[in-house]
Amino acid sequence: MSSFQPVKNDTFLRALRREATEYTPVWLMRQAGRYLPEYRATRAKAGNFMGLCTNPEAACEVTLQPLERYKLDAAILFSDILTVPDAMGLGLYFAEGEGPKFERPLVTEADVAKLAVPDIGTSLRYVTDAVSTIRGALGGRVPLIGFSGSPWTLACYMVEGGGSSDFRKVKTMLYKRPDLMHRILEVTAEAVSQYLRAQIEAGAQAVMIFDSWGGALADGAFQKFSLNYIKKIVASLPLQVNRGNFTEDIPSIVFTKGGGLWLEDIASSGASAVGVDWTVNLGQARARIGDRCAIQGNLDPTVLFAEPAQIEAEVAKALESFGVPQAGAGHVFNLGHGISQFTNPDSVEVMVNAVHAYSRKQRQ
Ligand code: CP3
Repeated sequence: MSSFQPVKNDTFLRALRREATEYTPVWLMRQAGRYLPEYRATRAKAGNFMGLCTNPEAACEVTLQPLERYKLDAAILFSDILTVPDAMGLGLYFAEGEGPKFERPLVTEADVAKLAVPDIGTSLRYVTDAVSTIRGALGGRVPLIGFSGSPWTLACYMVEGGGSSDFRKVKTMLYKRPDLMHRILEVTAEAVSQYLRAQIEAGAQAVMIFDSWGGALADGAFQKFSLNYIKKIVASLPLQVNRGNFTEDIPSIVFTKGGGLWLEDIASSGASAVGVDWTVNLGQARARIGDRCAIQGNLDPTVLFAEPAQIEAEVAKALESFGVPQAGAGHVFNLGHGISQFTNPDSVEVMVNAVHAYSRKQRQ
């Protein structure tokens, strides 16, 4: 533990704490990934995506790749949200070109009754090993973000057996057998809570909960079946950890894609920040959230397909919309969802540099 170094560039952590920063910190969801040729090369060596996730050295290598190219203010653990249901025995696999799938999805009442919290220390040891390997390799350069899916988003994959366009199976279960749905969410929330605490213990300096499919829920159902379980998880996380010779605050970020209508509810979850997608106006979000928490987001990832001058203009628009973070407000720049695999890596550099340059100018 005591081998950890305090972080040098703590701009990201200070923005989450809503303290003054010299510029707006930036990182990107899915910043390590297929748009980078060096990622594709490491993945080919590891065989496949899960080969990367389960090998701490390889996971560390790809986590650091985007940091070598860009002046990013945070690193995010290279892994996947579906490691948790995989550890629960559902049998995760990636069918070529079809995205993630489960061999044993939750179909019957008996499947749901059998579901149990896995032994995180053994079944997900490869993740916590990756966290400590990455934290060591970062040498305090920037903070390391750990993450998990929200119980609802994980349940979508666990019940559907893979990705879905209409969430028919999982939403049918929600309305027809809410008792089964709540049992899945209860068990998954406990697993996620233990998983995030293990990542923090292993060296993660902030955590993010990806509620990618919260926006598929009806008003009322969102609060009951997604946000309530997220709140339980956030409440279970330590606010501070002891690293031997120093202590660290551990901020948390909750990102509900399509959650713009519920910003006040999400801001009251106890998290340090709300992640917002590109449908949200940052200035309005700031006014609605007030001093409850910080905001992360929200450039449309498609902006990165435009010309450099257009990317710079869109970055400036987002920063102007938020305004200068002061008086207890905090902004972390990010995309509104993960970066596309078809993005030109040079466009990311344009974006990152524009965020830093423009936000410095705003503060003058
Ligand atoms: O942000 C990062 O750089 C950290 C790594 C990360 C991955 N997945 C790597 C990954 C994170 C934070 C995730 C989260 C994740 N995974 C989410 C929530 C965020 C979101 O996008 O809404 C979801 C829903 C998943 C499930 C998942 N994993 C899907 C749907 C896919 C296929 C996506 C695709 O583009 O084909 C994955 C695979 C995956 N996870 C890849 C990466 C880099 C692509 C794997 C590859 O082929 O190399």
